[in-house]
Amino acid sequence: MPGQPQTLTVAVVGATGVVGRTMLQVLAERRFPVGDLRLLASGRSAGSTASANGRTLTVGEAVPEAFEGVDIALFSAGTDVSRELAPQAAARGATVIDNSNAWRMESTVPLIVSQVNPEDAEWHEGIIANPNCSAMQLAPVLMALRDAVGLERVVVDTYQAVSGTGAEALAELQSQIRAHAAGEPKVASVYPHPIAFNALPEIDVFLDNGYSREEWKVVTESRKILHLPDLRISCTAVRVPVFVGHSEAVHVETSRPITPEAARRAFTAVPGVVVMDDPAAHVYPFATQAAGRDDIYVGRVRTDPSVERGLAFWVVSDNLRKGAATNAVEIAEGLLERGWVRARSRRAEPPTPRMVP
Ligand SMILES: NC(=O)c1ccc[n+]([C@@H]2O[C@H](COP(=O)([O-])OP(=O)(O)OC[C@H]3O[C@@H](n4cnc5c(N)ncnc54)[C@H](OP(=O)(O)O)[C@@H]3O)[C@@H](O)[C@H]2O)c1
Repeated sequence: MPGQPQTLTVAVVGATGVVGRTMLQVLAERRFPVGDLRLLASGRSAGSTASANGRTLTVGEAVPEAFEGVDIALFSAGTDVSRELAPQAAARGATVIDNSNAWRMESTVPLIVSQVNPEDAEWHEGIIANPNCSAMQLAPVLMALRDAVGLERVVVDTYQAVSGTGAEALAELQSQIRAHAAGEPKVASVYPHPIAFNALPEIDVFLDNGYSREEWKVVTESRKILHLPDLRISCTAVRVPVFVGHSEAVHVETSRPITPEAARRAFTAVPGVVVMDDPAAHVYPFATQAAGRDDIYVGRVRTDPSVERGLAFWVVSDNLRKGAATNAVEIAEGLLERGWVRARSRRAEPPTPRMVP
């Protein structure tokens, strides 16, 4: 019926996981026009029920046929699942927004942070990648400096929450805290060492160049998102015993000088970036304050006098929301607004009308 909003058939793959559950929450909060909603996971959870936006739904198994008729598929079930199923979903006409590492650096796949390079979605062919959570919260802040004064070199050190590893890691930190309080040994299985009361400079596997894969994702993904293929950027990624919220200490050399005041103004001008910077009053962003929110918080902005045109600052964001679910839903919203839900090569095909009854 004319005048009524169109709804989309949406699949959430990994719907029982930490990110998948946050996806369901964010879709509901932002009133994304979901008609048919399919919750998909492994065969282990198939048949269980989960609630989404007041509806109780049965979880299905993520198999290729589950994507028939799907408009948008939000994937957060790990790299192997995305490698196998994302092309199958795309072949059935769905547009995949993928949270894993499977497709991010493919030249044919846009890698998008909603307020940095949304226009890259125009050329998608059925798969769009959502960046790594640490690269995600960094990109809008670096974009502000790129546009204001240019970027010469970036050094970023991360302090990453255990929820970035998923549900099992959250449970492991909780059990190690309880064991510590009870004077019992802390058993580590998700991480190679106890994470409680610790800081582990190992996230994902180590590469031949000495960096961890997480660190290298920050390097390569930042270059792709910012359209700066030659950006000099280095990273050390550290897991810390925080439940939700990644923090980053960033040191930047800019091409032209910028004062901390001007940098704060440039950061504030980016949608979704909030400056919290009054150190004398103990005001700066931190993980427990950022958890549960969608914004990226910046503070401790200061001149770095150790290099010419140096700037140092601290960036914090919720890794499950802006670092994963919120950005994925923002990408979906952008596709809808711009008429890019379908792959570029299929956009000329007549739409399948689906109206709210
Ligand atoms: N956590 C973060 O901050 C974050 C940020 C950005 C990206 N990501 C990415 O998002 C993905 C999921 O992360 P998470 O933290 O939500 O992990 P998680 O809590 O461990 O959840 C994993 C999800 O994947 C599903 N799954 C596992 N194997 C599957 C299979 N063979 N077929 C279908 N579904 C399968 C699980 O379903 P069952 O219940 O059936 O096992 C569960 O729903 C990963 O690729 C991760 O790198 C995570």
